[in-house]
Amino acid sequence: MSDQLHTEASVSRPPAVPSPAPPSAPAEIPSAIAPAALPPWLDLAAPAFWRLPDPQRAAAFRHLRSLPAPVHFVERPAGPLRRERGFHALVRHADVLAASRNPQVFRSAPGVTTPEPARWVRLLFGDSMVNLDDPRHAQLRRIVARAFTPRLIARVEEDIRATAARIVDRVIAERPADFVPAVAAQLPFQVICAMMGIPEEHRPLILRQIDQASEHTGVHRPLRERIRLPGQGLRALARLQRLVARLGCERRRHPTEDLISALVGADLDGRGLTGRELGAFFSLLLVAGVETTRNALAHGLHLLSTHPEQRALLLAEPERRLDGAVDEILRHATPIIQFRRTLAADHQLGGAQLARGDQVLLCYAAANRDESVFPDPDAFDITRDPNPQLAFGGGGPHFCLGAHLARQEMKALYRELFSRLPDIRSTAAPEIVPSNFDHRVRSLAFTFTPPAVGG
Ligand code: HEM
Repeated sequence: MSDQLHTEASVSRPPAVPSPAPPSAPAEIPSAIAPAALPPWLDLAAPAFWRLPDPQRAAAFRHLRSLPAPVHFVERPAGPLRRERGFHALVRHADVLAASRNPQVFRSAPGVTTPEPARWVRLLFGDSMVNLDDPRHAQLRRIVARAFTPRLIARVEEDIRATAARIVDRVIAERPADFVPAVAAQLPFQVICAMMGIPEEHRPLILRQIDQASEHTGVHRPLRERIRLPGQGLRALARLQRLVARLGCERRRHPTEDLISALVGADLDGRGLTGRELGAFFSLLLVAGVETTRNALAHGLHLLSTHPEQRALLLAEPERRLDGAVDEILRHATPIIQFRRTLAADHQLGGAQLARGDQVLLCYAAANRDESVFPDPDAFDITRDPNPQLAFGGGGPHFCLGAHLARQEMKALYRELFSRLPDIRSTAAPEIVPSNFDHRVRSLAFTFTPPAVGG
């Protein structure tokens, strides 16, 4: 979902090494803190904050939500490369909803990831729809929504089931040690490639390019790496774009049933995607659709492994419980931590006065633990009902286009895994890549008892 190009650290204050707060720390903190006096473990602009373990970050968000002024301004240090002076953090469910549903004021341009994409990069590679506002956004969304019509999704669902079954066949045959590359990354990637009509022979190369293009988003790194890694990411992205543009040209001449043909063919306004727009959309789909679902699947296995009573509920009545389990995994794990908006006009929100040009972070991870909406929000409870989780956004024009598809993929994979390998479980905590953008799992050790031969 990122611009894939955000290889620079998004939070680059000099290393303010945190004295990590224990989960109980907020109780010892006064209820209102001037932003300048924030301890490092509450400073959302400090890279160290995003390296905190999940429970400590959740405790920090809980504390921010409880402040008398919960729309919280985070100052950024001035620096030669830094244009922004800081940002307002929205940590309550109601505030994230309000901002998401008011696109006239809360704009997605010039970019929703932090920092915003460089202008030359946007000119060169095209803007993805997630960074655009109407009318341009609406026009693009109308075209790409062709990919997500019930007819196309129904066809894909058959594919999802078959792909999930093949992945589990391979897991049984090969007994891999790491759930992420062997299982979690496979399904969303194969599904998107099948939807786009990407020939099998190109897929391994594409998978390598995505890893290179997105591995560094929102991750704080030393200067030496920050100079080297964007080059790698950009080269990977350029290769991806060239490949897809070439396929687009082929399909324009010889259309088939696949998504690329639908996207480059003319619509009622006589307009299809240009080669560059197609490349930008495909890159968006790969990161939006592959990385997010991959991380959700991995977090889900770990959550179900560490909550045996919830797992027992799911396994006892899978068809009754799967929908609730998937939504609770999405709420608890929140694969995309936050997106940004930029104010088009002065505006009041949550008691705070925001000014035109100000930047606002929509902290989905914090909103998804808002105790005023989710009783006992840190508990993992697959029977939670209602569960108005915001992992796919807070509604409004940018609401995740792939939400239905992602849910279908998660249900298909868990159905296949738990029915054929009922004791499958993680054996260690996931290795998390610290990031202010996504809740990325690099690896997850797992085990299972293989079924008896012929079983
Ligand atoms: C668990 C998986 C996923 C999560 C957590 C997720 C999350 C999100 C979020 C938070 C947004 C931004 C919403 C907003 O700004 O209001 C978004 C937008 C988007 N997502 Fe997803 N997503 C997931 C899976 C997918 C999949 C599978 C696809 C497609 C195959 C997809 C395609 C998109 C697209 C195209 C947008 C941009 C929509 C727009 O700007 O109009 N996502 N997603």
